[in-house]
Amino acid sequence: MNTSDSKAITVIGSGLIGRSWAMVFASGGYTVRIYDNQPGMAAKAIAEIRKQLQELEEAGMLRGTLTAAQQLALMSSHENLSQVLEGAFFVQECVFEQLEVKQAIFQDIAGLVGKDVILSSSTSCLVPSSVFSKVADKSRCIVSHPVNPPYYVKLVELVPHPETTETVMNTTYALMTKVGQVPVRLKKEFDGFALNRVQAAIIAESWRLVQDGVISVRDIDLVMSEGLGMRYAFIGPMETMHLNAPEGLEDYMKRYGEGITRVLNSFGPVPDFFSEQAKSITKEMCELIPADQQHLSARKERRDQLLMRLAKLKDDH
Ligand SMILES: NC(=O)c1ccc[n+]([C@@H]2O[C@H](COP(=O)([O-])OP(=O)(O)OC[C@H]3O[C@@H](n4cnc5c(N)ncnc54)[C@H](O)[C@@H]3O)[C@@H](O)[C@H]2O)c1
Ligand SMILES: *[C@@H]1O[C@H](CO)[C@@H](O)[C@H](O)[C@H]1NC(C)=O
Ligand SMILES: *[C@@H]1O[C@H](CO)[C@@H](O)[C@H](O)[C@H]1NC(C)=O
Repeated sequence: MNTSDSKAITVIGSGLIGRSWAMVFASGGYTVRIYDNQPGMAAKAIAEIRKQLQELEEAGMLRGTLTAAQQLALMSSHENLSQVLEGAFFVQECVFEQLEVKQAIFQDIAGLVGKDVILSSSTSCLVPSSVFSKVADKSRCIVSHPVNPPYYVKLVELVPHPETTETVMNTTYALMTKVGQVPVRLKKEFDGFALNRVQAAIIAESWRLVQDGVISVRDIDLVMSEGLGMRYAFIGPMETMHLNAPEGLEDYMKRYGEGITRVLNSFGPVPDFFSEQAKSITKEMCELIPADQQHLSARKERRDQLLMRLAKLKDDH
């Protein structure tokens, strides 16, 4: 990571995720060109980023080897799509999560850049074959799905379109690694990718346990934050099993596989998240944390502070 790297990345859409990507790419020394179709929005994003970078620098939490001022100097805001794409080798799209909006912007972008430019989408829930359906050459298209907030939670799921070349996958993987993110490769597109499928499984069983009167909202959250989550910040479910039996994974399954199968077979159907019962789950949550801006903002602030410290701990070990 050094200042001599003048390669440019274009960020399309300057909301929460666009701003985070801009900070991540600039921390790796890349020139970052930011575009938003809402007038004044991209410039406002840079003002917001300036504030954040200064706070991070003061807290000693700035990523990369450049100062906040140097990182900020790498960023520019633009209101013209063809101009913002000039000189970019990589485009990270971060517009609204609406299929038609994404399809249209990629169609426009593809018409303005050379065929070697990598087109990458931040989509959380749309598969590449939908997002890129209006791009003629899909071999350079990919989904790079971040986790909020990407500055502290470094995982990026790379999801190829069926036509995406291995070179594009590898270049994106190398870029993400270079800027300090942690990429994982999906071998093919799959609804929900990996992270949201695992998350959905956790949500479903947590919901059912509360709904079936087995445990309270407060306590199921503690099961994760004080139990499973303690390990999962450092080792995944596969390694957890591998380490939890004297002779590793195969031994683990010999000991516990039958029990896991029995429990899995007792899982209920997909919960109805809009039922009368769901209302009482919401009520229970809101008694713990009222759903007004003041309480929610305070808890988000706490979450981000803790994630920042956890990210530092992970960096140090
Ligand atoms: N927020 C999250 O937790 C999260 C996590 C991972 C991925 N994502 C994905 O990232 C993307 C962006 O999410 P966000 O939370 O930053 O949304 P956001 O609403 O905060 O920001 C979207 C921005 O895109 C701009 N925009 C909309 N249409 C545009 C267009 N045609 N051209 C240029 N700019 C346009 C909007 O003006 C806005 O500034 C979504 O696809 C979302 O699914 C979000
Ligand atoms: C954007 O810039 C291009 C190239 O500089 C120019 O041809 C085009 O007219 C501009 N578009 C708008 C909407 O200003
Ligand atoms: C892509 O990376 C993988 C894993 O590192 C490697 O095996 C493969 O040869 C690479 N492919 C290309 C085309 O570079």
